[in-house]
Amino acid sequence: MEAPCVRVEREQGEETRKRLAEAGLLADEWKIEVAEGYLYLPVTDPEAVPADLQVVSRSVGERDTPDTPTDLLGFEPSYERLGDIVILDEDDPERAREIADAVTASDIPAETVVNRASKVKGELRVRDWEVLVGESTETVHREYGSEFLLDVAEVYFSPRLATERHRVAEQVEAGERAFDMFAGVGPFAIPFAKRGAEVVGVDLNERAVEYLRENARRNDVEDRVTAIRGDVREVAPDYADWADRVVMNLPHSADEFLDSAVTLAGDQCVVHYYDIQHEDDPFGPGEAAIRAAAELEYEVEVETRHVVRSYAPHELNVCLDVRLSR
Ligand SMILES: C[S@@+](CC[C@H](N)C(=O)[O-])C[C@H]1O[C@@H](n2cnc3c(N)ncnc32)[C@H](O)[C@@H]1O
Repeated sequence: MEAPCVRVEREQGEETRKRLAEAGLLADEWKIEVAEGYLYLPVTDPEAVPADLQVVSRSVGERDTPDTPTDLLGFEPSYERLGDIVILDEDDPERAREIADAVTASDIPAETVVNRASKVKGELRVRDWEVLVGESTETVHREYGSEFLLDVAEVYFSPRLATERHRVAEQVEAGERAFDMFAGVGPFAIPFAKRGAEVVGVDLNERAVEYLRENARRNDVEDRVTAIRGDVREVAPDYADWADRVVMNLPHSADEFLDSAVTLAGDQCVVHYYDIQHEDDPFGPGEAAIRAAAELEYEVEVETRHVVRSYAPHELNVCLDVRLSR
């Protein structure tokens, strides 16, 4: 297609592009072409181009503008992406279907679209899904340089906690011994091991433990990760006094496992205790529970009181980083 283009030497290309864009003269539907040291910048109105710039007519290609679900729907749907799975949280099945169709027609590289069909439930914290597009609910999720294979229909996983996991992983030092009491597919355990820690991860969910082992292999840390399937209350005595760091990411009931955390703790140990509490006193109940469980044996110092995210109206998901010293 012939289009009016500003022709500039390549060195002036970026500066000229900016000038034209600021003046609203760049024709977005056409590609910028490069030939023999010159840039050809398609313009919408050749008459309006400043006189110091040269306008020529030239054949240019059409630009492929990505179609987002919003472009196709005319409203902005909310969805999360986990690897090549798109996750919806829609109550209305018709609206869910409409969004799923738009995702498929868009340029998002999605193989599967699922809609939340239940809350996370039971001890394994897995939820039900309605699969709207595709078949497989297994995917590879990448987070801060690590990759995790997982099946959303078989294990708990939340990509929303990536920043929080990274905050904790950054505290880990090479050579330390870290115990993840509720390890899932390894989003704490694997980055810890990558930083040189020796890690034990426990989970009740057999499939999560299989994925944890696979993810240790994928991230080349299988020699530093021990994955154990079981109830952590039964596993903890085998690692008594062992841990320099303990992760307790089971927010609704971590307090029931504090005795096991104390069993695991060595002379010096940092416990990352996740909790969900009312915004009026998000840290008080967790701190009281930790003190009640540990204070006979340890000096207890809360190093960080951190709000992870809002969980529900007036409820916060928080983390206490607590140092136990004997
Ligand atoms: C909220 S998920 C967290 C998983 C992982 N830390 C993450 O961030 O993805 C809690 C995990 O604890 C496991 N779990 C629940 N009760 C347990 C127990 N008594 N012993 C060991 N694991 C348990 C569940 O199977 C689930 O995978």
